[in-house]
Amino acid sequence: MIKEKILVIGASGQIGVELTLALRKIYGNSNVIASDLREQNPLLEGTGPYVSLDVMNKEMLHVQVIRQGITQIYLLAAILSATGEKNPNLAWSLNMASLLHVLDIAKEENIRKVYWPSSIAVFGPTSPKKNCPQQTIIEPSTVYGISKYAGEFWCNYYFNRYGVDVRSLRYPGLISYKSQPGGGTTDYAVEIFQAAKDGEQYECFLKENTYLPMMYMDDAIRATVELMEADASKITIRTSYNLSGMSFSPKEITQEIQKHIIDFDTMYKPDSRQAIADSWPQSIDDSVAQKDWGWKTKYDLAAMTKDMLHNVT
Ligand code: NAD
Ligand code: SER
Repeated sequence: MIKEKILVIGASGQIGVELTLALRKIYGNSNVIASDLREQNPLLEGTGPYVSLDVMNKEMLHVQVIRQGITQIYLLAAILSATGEKNPNLAWSLNMASLLHVLDIAKEENIRKVYWPSSIAVFGPTSPKKNCPQQTIIEPSTVYGISKYAGEFWCNYYFNRYGVDVRSLRYPGLISYKSQPGGGTTDYAVEIFQAAKDGEQYECFLKENTYLPMMYMDDAIRATVELMEADASKITIRTSYNLSGMSFSPKEITQEIQKHIIDFDTMYKPDSRQAIADSWPQSIDDSVAQKDWGWKTKYDLAAMTKDMLHNVT
């Protein structure tokens, strides 16, 4: 059996913290090296090795990969949709350079597997709004979406040309309580729970009937692990797989929270993030992921809300 040594880049972020903890459970604490530009997230402290790493510094990244004997890389560092619109050049430069650095090093060092997430943000205003299929019109309107779509094709290219086993999921908006979201348009669906638990009215930056694809973090982590553990022969999509969890609007999640906290309320003050949300599909068809590697979501709106309210402090 191959002894895996895994490098997680961007491990202090919303997904990174939970994915690192999940990978440490599977592969052993000392075999999963967390890395980030910022300090280690407190939830990771004492659970395994941590290195401070700027993914933009390709030489340093390469040195770490060789020194640590890395066999798999999970690249999570990125600038998300809302922050990306504030600084398009930085978003393009980080999102593209980080991926190309990792793919090049994976090619040179024969890294066994690479994971890199894409997003529903690849879809744009001309994509189907409901049950958006795997293959369809894709004309993203945000720099984040453009970087993710370009990145998907770089993954496909490195797989076909160099045999790099890189795998990817188009995550919906992710909802979690362990670590905070980092500048996305779907962040409202996390913030709303904090307001509800604090006994405050929530001021939502999207309109009440804005439907978006969402997923609970437990499902997202499980999907990532299942995709990465699937036999390579089952992976027919080398750009990025559509992935679906649930779909709801700010009004619907407010009503779901009100089933537990009767006097909770949301007021609506849409800002520039509304245009980003309006450009994305409302729901996603992930039948290809279901067929290829047996993906099945567990959490719906009711189950996710119950769990979030139980865990948000
Ligand atoms: P996040 O912003 O919470 O975390 C990203 C991490 O990357 C941060 O801890 C940040 O410090 C780190 N980072 C930034 N620049 C770096 C650099 N130069 N070197 C090393 N680390 C650096 O993001 P996230 O929500 O955890 O997202 C992770 C990935 O998943 C991203 O590619 C994102 O596009 C994708 N994704 C996230 C969501 C979501 O809802 N969270 C949805 C779709 C796709
Ligand atoms: N949650 C992410 C965002 O809103 C989707 O990729 O940017």
